Amino acid sequence: MLHNIAILTGGGDAPGLNSVIRAAVKTAKLQYGAHVLGIQDGYEGLVQKADPWRLDMPDVAGLLYRGGTILGTSNRGDPFHYPVERDGKIVKEDKSKELMECLNDLRVDALIVIGGDGSLYIANELHKMGAPVVGVPKTIDNDLSATEVTFGFDTAITTATEALDKLHTTAESHHRAMVLEVMGRDAGWIALESGIAGGADVILIPEIPFSWDRIYDKIDGRRKVGRKFSIVVAAEGAHPSGGDRIVVESADQTHGLDRLGGIGQQVGYEISQNLGMDTRVTTLGHIQRGGKPSTFDRILATRFGVEAVHMVVKKKFGHMVALRKAKIVYVPLEEAIGKQKFVDPDGQMVQTAEAIGISMGR
Ligand code: F6P
Repeated sequence: MLHNIAILTGGGDAPGLNSVIRAAVKTAKLQYGAHVLGIQDGYEGLVQKADPWRLDMPDVAGLLYRGGTILGTSNRGDPFHYPVERDGKIVKEDKSKELMECLNDLRVDALIVIGGDGSLYIANELHKMGAPVVGVPKTIDNDLSATEVTFGFDTAITTATEALDKLHTTAESHHRAMVLEVMGRDAGWIALESGIAGGADVILIPEIPFSWDRIYDKIDGRRKVGRKFSIVVAAEGAHPSGGDRIVVESADQTHGLDRLGGIGQQVGYEISQNLGMDTRVTTLGHIQRGGKPSTFDRILATRFGVEAVHMVVKKKFGHMVALRKAKIVYVPLEEAIGKQKFVDPDGQMVQTAEAIGISMGR
């Protein structure tokens, strides 16, 4: 018999989180007559022993298409390295025992963790300590190797593609080079797929360190045949051959991962200096993470939410849902975490881009 399930959202948000929460609450209620307790602000809510939110059907009405997460999320609540103030200094302490106590006090059958690599890593550590945990992967970066796709990615590339469509018309009017910097951390999926869909002339991704000359050749080549404007998409982790990605804030400062950004500005500056071309730069930023999930993401998030509850009933703790060959499968967290999925520089998607004349900067 299933009675209570706790659910939390951890790490950066992604469009579709609310759709997972809605699907989990509905499945728990309609299929098993069980309750769902929403933990506020990721693991932080458990460490802080904050009162959970008992989610009933009216609480999830209208959630399918709402961006963000009604539960709140946090990048800084790692219970194993929890920041606390001691004598005026911030130090990291292990608060996992407090978290386990809180979970026991809540008397839940399981905890569903919806998160990226970091949150799922913590979920696996808690599982090793005996917590009945199941995972639901999310990230707009689509860089988890255990699942063919994560929800949030489709919405992010749709947003980036729409931005490229808009940049195209103004670039053409003004005969400018337009650079769009997109997210993705160390993976180039968002840049590559939105670049193909949005008709970019140059796509720069972290997996293919670029040559400045190849970028100039492409843009200048276009000018010579009368194409006076060009569109460049740069992934935030892209970098020139022999150079490094640009880090805005280091992992120490963010209590987590390096924060990237700025390559778009650098590419724009170099194009204008070296080609004498009027150039403008747009950094798409968190617009990629906000707003309504796309149809694809709503469906994937709903399937993940439903299966996460079934997984709890089957007691497949220490596992996460994943999409493989159009089917939802269960993958051990141990196997899934820490294995990133990068763009293959010689793979079909890059070949497709190059076949139609897009420069990958090499
Ligand atoms: O992992 C998702 C992501 O949006 C990355 O693409 C980006 O580098 C990062 O998170 C931004 O994180 P933050 O919300 O902390 O600025």
